[in-house]
Amino acid sequence: MGSSAIPVEQESGSQFLAYLQQLHRTYSSLQEGVVASYIPEIARADPDWFAICAVTVDGRLFQVGDDEQLFTIQSISKPFVYGLALEDHGRDYVLTRVGVEPTGDPFNSIIKLDESSKRPLNPMVNAGAIATASLIKGSDPTERLNRMLAMFRRYVGHDVFVDMSVFVSERTTGHRNRAMAYLMLNFGMIDAHVEQVLDLYFQQCSVMVNCRDLALMAATLANNGVNPHTKERALEEHYVRDLLSVMYTCGMYDYSGEWAYNVGLPAKSGITGGIIAVVPGVMGIAVFSPRLQSQGNSLRGIRVCQDLSEHFGLHVF
Ligand code: DON
Repeated sequence: MGSSAIPVEQESGSQFLAYLQQLHRTYSSLQEGVVASYIPEIARADPDWFAICAVTVDGRLFQVGDDEQLFTIQSISKPFVYGLALEDHGRDYVLTRVGVEPTGDPFNSIIKLDESSKRPLNPMVNAGAIATASLIKGSDPTERLNRMLAMFRRYVGHDVFVDMSVFVSERTTGHRNRAMAYLMLNFGMIDAHVEQVLDLYFQQCSVMVNCRDLALMAATLANNGVNPHTKERALEEHYVRDLLSVMYTCGMYDYSGEWAYNVGLPAKSGITGGIIAVVPGVMGIAVFSPRLQSQGNSLRGIRVCQDLSEHFGLHVF
């Protein structure tokens, strides 16, 4: 397929939707990949759920498939909470607690935590995301949770809620995350109240969204931090670049290099099967399909984004 115009023009909208519908038909038959099972509650997902959505920076929504199916956001929360931490403390301080280097390791790896600086390498892997959650300001756990939910609200344009079953499921089984949090406490990378920090991290992962919400969140980043539907600013403008940079280099875990090479867009995946990709100045894309490849990214999501990038020439280089 040759390269087509990016769908910002009104008249090309129906062609763009037709292309998304075609991708949805093509990849519905892709039966490879498995639903994540290490958190009991998320193992209950239907492997055949599949949605593709896009929101342009002028607010036009394109949707195909199970776009209203709710699921927990999981790791896609990480760049957004990182944005809140940057707003709370500024770049210099946040950099003392979490770096911006890709790990090349699985998202839940503990190995590099015990190396020289004792600082988690980036905010997209679990260790870095837990350190980031510890930076969210608030006088008590309720205020910190409410500030985080208010942040998500600015991106999706409506109230969001935590799925209690998933939260409790992960809280009672997330021993590896708990181990990393206590190791970071030992290094002084996170302060006291480790269990409260872990609760906030598990809560941010258990925020319920659908594919449309994710596309709007991505579109808000594409639109320099302003929600294209509500026109509300969700993130201070000078931090948008920071989020997109860590998403570009680290957002797909140990698949980030291949993704950057082939798709060429800042992106973030989550273990429940969501992927967001940001086309700066143009649109946000979201795909939801719980069938995962070996690094924990949605298999159909990768294929859809690859095709979209190729077809519309979206690679940033
Ligand atoms: O901490 C965890 O393992 C999960 N709450 C989130 C992991 C995740 O989404 C990784 N994504 N591919």
